[in-house]
Amino acid sequence: MIQDIIKIAKEAGEIVRNGFGKKLKIEYKSNETNLVTEVDKASEKHIIDFIKKNYPDHDILAEESGENKSGSEYLWVVDPLDGTTNFAHGLPIFSVSIGLQRNGKTVMGVVYDVMQDITYFAEEGSGSYANSERLKVSLNDKINHSVLVTGFPYNIYDNPENALEKFSALTRRARAIRRLGSAALDLCYVAKGVFDGFWEVYLHPWDICAGMLIVEEAGGMVTDFNGSEIDIYAKRILASNKMIHKNLMEIINNWK
Ligand code: IPD
Ligand code: CA
Ligand code: CA
Repeated sequence: MIQDIIKIAKEAGEIVRNGFGKKLKIEYKSNETNLVTEVDKASEKHIIDFIKKNYPDHDILAEESGENKSGSEYLWVVDPLDGTTNFAHGLPIFSVSIGLQRNGKTVMGVVYDVMQDITYFAEEGSGSYANSERLKVSLNDKINHSVLVTGFPYNIYDNPENALEKFSALTRRARAIRRLGSAALDLCYVAKGVFDGFWEVYLHPWDICAGMLIVEEAGGMVTDFNGSEIDIYAKRILASNKMIHKNLMEIINNWK
């Protein structure tokens, strides 16, 4: 089944790649920072048509069309284009993210890096991969040697959860901080050991479902800011190589 998810994520990725750099109709969602394009919709339609045809009894939670639930034990969690702002502005960092849950637990996850043609995937208990390369989180245990990544929520104008203060506190402690614009890819880079940690607030299930499993299966850790276990509906996420997790929590929670 993972092969099916990989196949459809790559096909959707091709739709996204073909739309990149073209003149597109852009609409606003909650506000003018939250965009959606016709390509987001076309990618999502392709994925949903596939699920409905091949797994007609399965439930779906997809960013642009919402929930389609009938009580199945399986739930597909779909972000047809993660990184729409990058995509719409010509920055080639975006992905297609598809997670599969069984009875509320993520059992498979695929994140397709569209412009680099890299497929990140994980199956519960079987490790994480980037194409055929097995992934492993970094071994770094020092915050001052860490490269971290984060994102800002679309309601950043209201400065929710002191996003900028946390950013400032970590900037003064880490080696470097990056803000890539695709949470799903941020998580894959933690799994790959490129980044040592990632944090963000107010993400959605489709941003993190696949990436969380990919981090965990690469030996990493994903929790709330207080260290407690989270599910895909969590409003705060902290992912790391495990080694710096406690340290990150201390800084995030005591940013003053
Ligand atoms: C967004 C990206 C971004 C994150 C935003 C997300 P979208 O997803 O993952 O990195 O900072 O909060 O909403 O809207 O491009 O699918
Ligand atoms: Ca997203
Ligand atoms: Ca999206």
